[in-house]
Amino acid sequence: MEDRTRYTTKELTAATWPDFQRLFRRPGEWGACWCIYYQRKKPPPSAGMTLEQRAERNRRDKKAMVKSGRSHGILVYDAGEPVGWCQYGEKDEAPRIDASRKYKALDVEPVGGRLWRISCFSVDRKYRKMGVAKTGLSAALESIKRQGGGTVEAYPVTRRGALATWFGTVSMFEERGFKVVSPFGRSNVLMRKKVVPAR
Ligand SMILES: CC(C)(COP(=O)(O)OP(=O)(O)OC[C@H]1O[C@@H](n2cnc3c(N)ncnc32)[C@H](O)[C@@H]1OP(=O)(O)O)[C@@H](O)C(=O)NCCC(=O)NCCS
Repeated sequence: MEDRTRYTTKELTAATWPDFQRLFRRPGEWGACWCIYYQRKKPPPSAGMTLEQRAERNRRDKKAMVKSGRSHGILVYDAGEPVGWCQYGEKDEAPRIDASRKYKALDVEPVGGRLWRISCFSVDRKYRKMGVAKTGLSAALESIKRQGGGTVEAYPVTRRGALATWFGTVSMFEERGFKVVSPFGRSNVLMRKKVVPAR
């Protein structure tokens, strides 16, 4: 069994931005994403732009969001090296989710009070299935608790081989007390959990 105590975590801030950059610059890992996809209501025009140009625009925009406190997430480290990432944030930090067909089609109770989202995981290929995503998720939930708590939503995949693995897997949320609220498209479910604020 993997020893999870070896990992450490940090919030993404202007100070840890260089670590986020190191993780997202790994060649061939994340394309142009920079974990900004759900943070924009609509994709910006990109006709005629190369992958490198789109990546650079996303990197720059993400950095500006982090600097102004509009982007949250947890970096997971092994011996000082960033190896994984869990993005979380309040509803307004991931407007693309509200804009999606799957989200608009949901027939669920609206959430009263603060709504948070766990919108993405990215784990270095060499570190997968070694507890990195779970470590990031636990730290994100602790952070939400410290920031006043509320309802936390997630959209994990229900089957192996599904495309959107960046949403995480059902078991990791179940283990942390999330309950399935509704199907979310064909391969995902909407899960929720109430996080009580820290005293
Ligand atoms: C999916 C992903 C986040 C899992 O991270 P991880 O650190 O390997 O996960 P963990 O080791 O913490 O395990 C989490 C759970 O999910 C399961 N799991 C891991 N990878 C899985 C997969 N591909 N499909 C289904 N289940 C998976 C694990 O078995 C574990 O469940 P268990 O407790 O029941 O055994 C990781 O594979 C990843 O980063 N994938 C790429 C996502 C991506 O493309 N992100 C960027 C988008 S631009």
